[in-house]
Amino acid sequence: MRAVRGGRGMSDTVVATVEEVEERRSVLFTAYDARGNREEVIVVPCEETGAKAWVNRCTHEAQRLDRGMGAAMRDGEIICPKHGSMFDACSGDCDNGEAAGTTLVSVDVTVDGDEVTLTDSNYTFAHEGEKESNDDVGPGSSSHLSF
Ligand code: FES
Repeated sequence: MRAVRGGRGMSDTVVATVEEVEERRSVLFTAYDARGNREEVIVVPCEETGAKAWVNRCTHEAQRLDRGMGAAMRDGEIICPKHGSMFDACSGDCDNGEAAGTTLVSVDVTVDGDEVTLTDSNYTFAHEGEKESNDDVGPGSSSHLSF
């Protein structure tokens, strides 16, 4: 169920501003999906709507599009850093290279003025930036730091 545009539902969180997205090309945040798993999401500029959000993973292989330094983008397309397939930042569609014929997994955001709000009922905002790499292990496998 989509939140009403401009609404302030319980789970709606402002995840970026349009200005930020335009300046940084992609704004990365981490969200919990419907199963409680953490998933990285990128918010990218889209001329039609101001911003769009996609799961930060190429459809070809489990490759992050934004590796923490902003996604590579050209002419409104997100470029996969691994094999170079390009995805339309507005539609998520890819028509070239290894990922041809696929579409990125979308995350609903609503742009209201300068604010980009997460309005996807399948995702709950966790925190800004990357998902920490080491804390995804299940209970029982306590982490042992070694230097
Ligand atoms: S992993 Fe992205 S195109 Fe191959």
